[in-house]
Amino acid sequence: MSIADFNPAAEVRGDTLYFDGVSAIELAKRYGTPLYVVSETTVRRRCAAIRSAFLDKYPNTAAVYASKAFQTLDMCRIVTEEGLGLDVVSGGELYAALKAGVAPAKIIFHGNAKSADELDYAVRSDVGRIVSDNLFEIAELERLGALYGKKVRVLYRVTPGVDSHTHRFISTGSLDSKFGIPLDPSVRDDYMRAVLDASHLDFRGFHFHIGSQLHDNFSHLAALRIILKLVADVASAYGYAAPELNLGGGFGVRYLPGDPALDPGYFVDPMMELIRSSCGEAGIPMPLVTIEPGRWIIGEAGITLYTVRSVKTIPGIRTYVGVDGGMTDNIRPALYEAKYHALLANKAGEAEAAPGGAPSGSPVASAAAGAAAALVTVVGKCCETGDVLIRDIALPDPRPGDTLAVFSTGAYNHSMASNYNRIPRPAVVLTRAGTHRLSVRRETYEDLVAREV
Ligand code: LLP
Repeated sequence: MSIADFNPAAEVRGDTLYFDGVSAIELAKRYGTPLYVVSETTVRRRCAAIRSAFLDKYPNTAAVYASKAFQTLDMCRIVTEEGLGLDVVSGGELYAALKAGVAPAKIIFHGNAKSADELDYAVRSDVGRIVSDNLFEIAELERLGALYGKKVRVLYRVTPGVDSHTHRFISTGSLDSKFGIPLDPSVRDDYMRAVLDASHLDFRGFHFHIGSQLHDNFSHLAALRIILKLVADVASAYGYAAPELNLGGGFGVRYLPGDPALDPGYFVDPMMELIRSSCGEAGIPMPLVTIEPGRWIIGEAGITLYTVRSVKTIPGIRTYVGVDGGMTDNIRPALYEAKYHALLANKAGEAEAAPGGAPSGSPVASAAAGAAAALVTVVGKCCETGDVLIRDIALPDPRPGDTLAVFSTGAYNHSMASNYNRIPRPAVVLTRAGTHRLSVRRETYEDLVAREV
């Protein structure tokens, strides 16, 4: 598989990796490493795909970008220009969204333990929806609605009790979860009465999100069946047909060349069909249906560039390739055992020449690529044994000074970055069809001590 088959924004010219028409080597020289590079072209294409597979195809639908995946002011502007709304989960994300100029009505505010200040901020700002999953919050929202003379539009996040096929740390829909309201009827009735009796709350319907990085639609459909039964039960018990249904996110992306490329239709088509048939049977109108993709929009749009700083072979054991970033800019391998694909951006021709394109973790590929592409383990610079970015990947003769490009780092890398070891967080560069511009500057040492009083 050539790199362009794996990631359409990637291309090899001579020995050099180009991303969205820009030389990765030029970007590394110009902006330094580690560097997050985000293809605006890919982000906009992905938003267009959401429009054609969902928004334009089905009436009465909405898509909001789950901005926790990667939130910058530029990103907020790009996705809203492309017709999506924004999902935020904290006062900080809300602040940035508003600062970027996102219309409050297009914002959905989530969170299982929002603070009083956050709720006040959300109500004052007139966010489009607040998704709640606890009665304390419902009482607080009713109080704030009365205080500000507003009707607060509320959704309930419920726990469908479905296990999703993903890493247990990013599975959220099972019964034993900190997210959502359990559907046990005794619990449910208290919630329904509380929200329907409140005079400053406008109850819009239900939300579920069963997990992230899902490669099949089974758990979405299983959860949806349960929620549709809930909608029908609530309609008959309370005479209230919830006008909205929010299906969350979770659509998986490609991290390794062997991963399937899933388009949004694979997830939304069967769900829309199920909603249509279920509402027909229950005799209730089709609700407004919302989806909340995060990773699917930004994941494959991002790569991270590193400079190789050390190469260390332990005879008979392994070769460690040390780069100038690590778990501070990408915590996912340490946290979820996440796998990534990478290549040397200045020796990309050699990887392309290898039959099979030397997919990561494949000893076959390394043998095929010859002695030059031995399996190595890419590690970061943190004082932490677990700071391993990629275990066992075939790289052609890595040397200090080489530029390593790691793919599919757009989602949950920049947004989960830390300053462990007082390592400044990388800059973010946006590319668009051969052009590039700085979007977020690199953190400085001064930034690192700026909050100390
Ligand atoms: N909606 C809700 C309510 C969510 O909690 C999430 C993600 C999404 C939408 C977007 O899910 P996505 O489409 O991105 O899968 N840090 C983890 C992922 C945590 C996801 C949390 N919630 C990771 O790096 O894999």
